[in-house]
Amino acid sequence: MANDYHHISVFGDEVIKYLAPRANQNFVDCTLGGGGHSQRILDLTGPKGKILAFELDKRAIVASQARLKKYKNRLDIVQDSYVHLKKIVIKKKFRPIHGIIFDLGLSSDQLDRADRGFSFKDHGSLDMRFDVKSQSLTAEEIVLTWSKDDLLKIFREYGEVKQAQRLAQGIIAWRETFLKQKQKKLKTSMFVSAILRILNIKETSLKRFRIHPATQVFQALRIAVNSELDNISKALPQALDMLESGGRIAVISFHSLEDRIVKRYFKQMSSGCICPPESPICTCGNKPQLKIISKKAIEPSAQEISANPRSRSAKLRVAEKI
Ligand SMILES: C[S@@+](CC[C@H](N)C(=O)[O-])C[C@H]1O[C@@H](n2cnc3c(N)ncnc32)[C@H](O)[C@@H]1O
Repeated sequence: MANDYHHISVFGDEVIKYLAPRANQNFVDCTLGGGGHSQRILDLTGPKGKILAFELDKRAIVASQARLKKYKNRLDIVQDSYVHLKKIVIKKKFRPIHGIIFDLGLSSDQLDRADRGFSFKDHGSLDMRFDVKSQSLTAEEIVLTWSKDDLLKIFREYGEVKQAQRLAQGIIAWRETFLKQKQKKLKTSMFVSAILRILNIKETSLKRFRIHPATQVFQALRIAVNSELDNISKALPQALDMLESGGRIAVISFHSLEDRIVKRYFKQMSSGCICPPESPICTCGNKPQLKIISKKAIEPSAQEISANPRSRSAKLRVAEKI
C-alpha cells in the first residue's frame, strides 16, 4: 500500500535555511505527508536529533515509514491532528523542541486520487476527509444536509465564492431532486455539473474561465470538512508554548485565508500588546514572544514554480521564539 504515493515538497531549501537544523536537535513536523521535509531535517540532526511527526492520512504515513526507514529510531509518527500538538508533546515528553514546521493543506497524492473526492476533475465520492477513520463529516454530508445559511457561510468565509447566495440557494433546490432519485453516493462529477447548471455555465464555455467555477466551492468544503482554519489558529499558540527560546516556527500555506491567520498571529505575538487598537496606551503589559524572521511572506522562485507548478500559490512565513 502507498508505494505509488506522490508529492513534491514545496520550499525544501528555504525550510532548511530558516529552520537551520543542527546535530542532535529535535523538531516537530506537523504535516508529515510524504516525509520530504522530515527527511532533510533528519539528515542534518543525527546522530541523536529526533522528529515527532503528525499526519492524519494513513497512506501518507505508510509511504513515509517506507521512505524514512533508515531513520526509524529518530522518527516518531503519530496518526493524529496537529491540533493536539501540546497534549502529545507533553505525553511523549518530547522536549526540547528547536523548530516546528507546518506545511498546510493537502498533498498531490490526496488531490490526484479520485477516491478522496478533493478534485472536481474526477468521478470519486465527494468525501474530502484527511482521515477516513477518525473523521465522520464528509463533503457529501455538508452538501446534502446543511441549511442554506450554513452553506452560504462556508462558501463566503472559506471559499470567498463570488455568487455564494445563488449557489447556496441553487444547491438546496437541486438536492431535493437528487435525494428523490435515491442515488447511493454523490459523485464529484455530479456535483460539478450541478454547480455549472446553477451558475448557468455551459461545459463548452469553461475555457473562458481563468479558474474552474467549482474551485472555490471545493476549497470551502475541504476547509469545512477538515476544520482547517480552526486547526491552524489553535495550533500556533501551542507551537509557541512548546518551542525552546531561539527555536523557529515555519508555516507554508496555500491560500490567503490560512496565510492571513499566520501573518496576524506572528504580528500579534511579536508586538506583544493585545490592547484594543482604540486604546491610547498599553494596559495589557504583554511582552513580545516572537521575532518575525520573514518580514514579507516568502514566495517560491520561478525555478521552483516551473519544476512544480502546484507550488505557485505557496507562501512561507517564519518566526523565532524570543
Ligand atoms: C502539503 S502536505 C505535506 C507534505 C510534506 N511536508 C512533504 O514534504 O511531503 C500536507 C499534509 O498534511 C496533512 N494534514 C492536514 N491537516 C492535518 C492535521 N490537522 N494534522 C495532521 N496532518 C494534517 C495532510 O494529510 C497532508 O498529508
